Amino acid sequence: MPAFVAALTVLAGVLAACGSADSGIVRLSAPPMGWNSWNAFGCGVTEATVHAAADALVSSGMRDAGYRYVVVDDCWFDQSRTADGSLRGNPTTFPDGMAALGKYLHDRGLKFGIYESPSSRTCAQVGGSYGGSTGSTGHVVQDARTFASWGVDYLKYDWCGAPASIDRMKRAFGSMRTALRDTGRPIVLSVNPNSLETNPAVPETVGASGDWSGAADLVRTGQDVYPLWDNAIADRVYVNGSYTIAGIRDTVERSVAVPAHAGYYNDPDMLVIGTSLSTLGFPATASVPSQLPDTQARVQLVMWAMLGAPLMAGNDLTRMSDQTKALLTSAGVIAIDQDRSKPGNRIGRIGDVEVWDRNLAGGDRAIALYNPGSSPATTRLDASAIGIPVGCTATGVLTGRSQPLDGPITVTATGVELYRVHCG
Ligand code: GLA
Repeated sequence: MPAFVAALTVLAGVLAACGSADSGIVRLSAPPMGWNSWNAFGCGVTEATVHAAADALVSSGMRDAGYRYVVVDDCWFDQSRTADGSLRGNPTTFPDGMAALGKYLHDRGLKFGIYESPSSRTCAQVGGSYGGSTGSTGHVVQDARTFASWGVDYLKYDWCGAPASIDRMKRAFGSMRTALRDTGRPIVLSVNPNSLETNPAVPETVGASGDWSGAADLVRTGQDVYPLWDNAIADRVYVNGSYTIAGIRDTVERSVAVPAHAGYYNDPDMLVIGTSLSTLGFPATASVPSQLPDTQARVQLVMWAMLGAPLMAGNDLTRMSDQTKALLTSAGVIAIDQDRSKPGNRIGRIGDVEVWDRNLAGGDRAIALYNPGSSPATTRLDASAIGIPVGCTATGVLTGRSQPLDGPITVTATGVELYRVHCG
């Protein structure tokens, strides 16, 4: 029996159904898509940069391709709460205030996302790149009401506390979930249990290993993804004292072991397509390019789609190359990402090439041939062995060309080919 058929049999029983998320706050029929300020602007985010990003989402066609949530990440807030304990926007960088920002986004057919932590400080406050101590500890209900009053549609809720048990984090996330629900406004809750997780015995697995059903709509499964192929590169090239950095290859590899749960979407972190390492504080070196090469950028979008992951762009949309725009707005890849079916998974290997499979809701199959290796690889897939009858058509989702799956297919080094297989 070919290795990938055996693997298919084993995997068949492992995946739980997951075609929608329902935390009790919002019923999502597909993983959210949008843009987040962190990777391009960090603590330099301002009202003007968010306006420009929103305008670019509209003019680039990204909004109409599905990217609707605009998430203002860390550092949007005043470093002190007001006299009554409320959060407010930083008056210097968000002079019109957060309700006006929400209106700006809503007026353009976009949704408003914001960032907070259940701990006493946000991650930037813990790391020292931003002052104050304005996490939600002691203010959960008040903050939920404030967000609802501003028209917030999405909250990224980032642990940023000392490593803690899953139960403790679930309770903290759950009380915000309840507070959001009690506002009566549907607000997507996206949690990150991994921030500041530094225990080498359990690196990057807190989100991945827990069952967060009922606590949130989206759950981060690992550390921050950087525009790097492999976290081994980060470990070798950069001094990385505070927390682990993830790359594309290791994030895909880790995702194989993360079970799907009905009720929430696994979130392997934001897209880093078109973002720069230097903006994130890591200078490029002779051996590490500042941006992901095109092949690796394609791997991120395609594999995130195979995983049914949220698609949150993080690049500066006002300086996006045509190539980045074309990739991010690829309708065929987005359709696979947004499909109501359960996430795909790896079903086998042919040499260096991994075979990934996703059974789509309408009966089509998405097949990704992913080559994490450093040399190009040519494969022949035994289509009948994975239940694809003779006579089905495989169309390259990024190329638009039909291709017999059992013909020779060459996959570039650190690259991927994605097919939509239609029978009958
Ligand atoms: C953590 C999160 C990032 C980002 C920063 C903000 O590192 O994982 O996605 O939100 O905090 O400080």
